[in-house]
Amino acid sequence: MKLADLTSVARVEEALRGADYLPDEGLAAAVFLALQMRRPLLLEGEAGVGKTQLAKTLAETLGSELIRLQCYEGIDSQQALYEWNYPRQLLALRAMDATGADVVEDVYGPEYLSERPLLKALRRGQDAVLLIDELDRADDQFEAFLLELLSDFTISIPELGTISAAAPPVVVITSNRTRELHDALKRRCLFHWIAYPDPEREVEIIRRNAPEISEPLAQAVAAAIARLRGLGLTKKPGPAEAIDWSRSVALLGEDRLTEEVAEQTLGWVVKNEDDLDLARARLGDVVGG
Ligand SMILES: Nc1ncnc2c1ncn2[C@@H]1O[C@H](COP(=O)(O)OP(=O)(O)OP(=O)(O)O)[C@@H](O)[C@H]1O
Ligand SMILES: [Mg+2]
Repeated sequence: MKLADLTSVARVEEALRGADYLPDEGLAAAVFLALQMRRPLLLEGEAGVGKTQLAKTLAETLGSELIRLQCYEGIDSQQALYEWNYPRQLLALRAMDATGADVVEDVYGPEYLSERPLLKALRRGQDAVLLIDELDRADDQFEAFLLELLSDFTISIPELGTISAAAPPVVVITSNRTRELHDALKRRCLFHWIAYPDPEREVEIIRRNAPEISEPLAQAVAAAIARLRGLGLTKKPGPAEAIDWSRSVALLGEDRLTEEVAEQTLGWVVKNEDDLDLARARLGDVVGG
């Protein structure tokens, strides 16, 4: 499927589902509009609700290269754009020295440049899906730099000149909301909040990701996960945990989520001591036994 084939919301929905991604209400429309308007899609939502996966599935669907920039505390524009390959430059200079070449080759040419994700995405243009993952982990300064880049898809490398994208890549930005992103950046993006799936969609997500899981087991796990989310845990389980939980139950040779099996496998779902105490105390209700 090409970008030009995604001519309606229904087509986007069909394409995502065809690649085993089950979009929530409104996500297919958001993807469609972001693609049509060539603007970044900003996805927020709790852990494990499928933010990163959406970008991966979109790249797969479009047959595009996925270029991922994983953000972290302290990331700077150099690490995100390009770096000069110093060892290679040094080797070239040594070689010139040794051969006594009288023409000095320019070691600030394109072949000595190490592309980092943003430069790569700029060069690939619309044949790439650029995933800027977990932008909330980066600091304000990096966000400001990114805002500028996303505005005109142009960068200037002092030794080489200006590089512009012929057509902007498809851009997906994710945030876990450990901090609020700036309004200026948000203004450039189409925003979509991915909520936890309802039990019905969660069952389908489990079965698409783990086809070996029976329908009744997937239903039992989805229902238990929904109840766990209602307990007031500090860290609620997402669909990713629902998938792992189902798999671990099946690996124990069980096809039912009994209280005993839930107890044995709870470490796939609840990953914090206080939450574990709370979940254990209510396990009977949670599995609905
Ligand atoms: N809507 C969905 N359709 C199909 N699979 C899904 C869906 N949502 C989540 N998943 C499954 O859950 C896994 C985790 O999703 P993903 O890594 O995209 O979550 P995330 O929102 O990026 O979480 P985090 O904030 O922790 O990075 C995916 O690899 C995928 O297998
Ligand atoms: Mg993610």
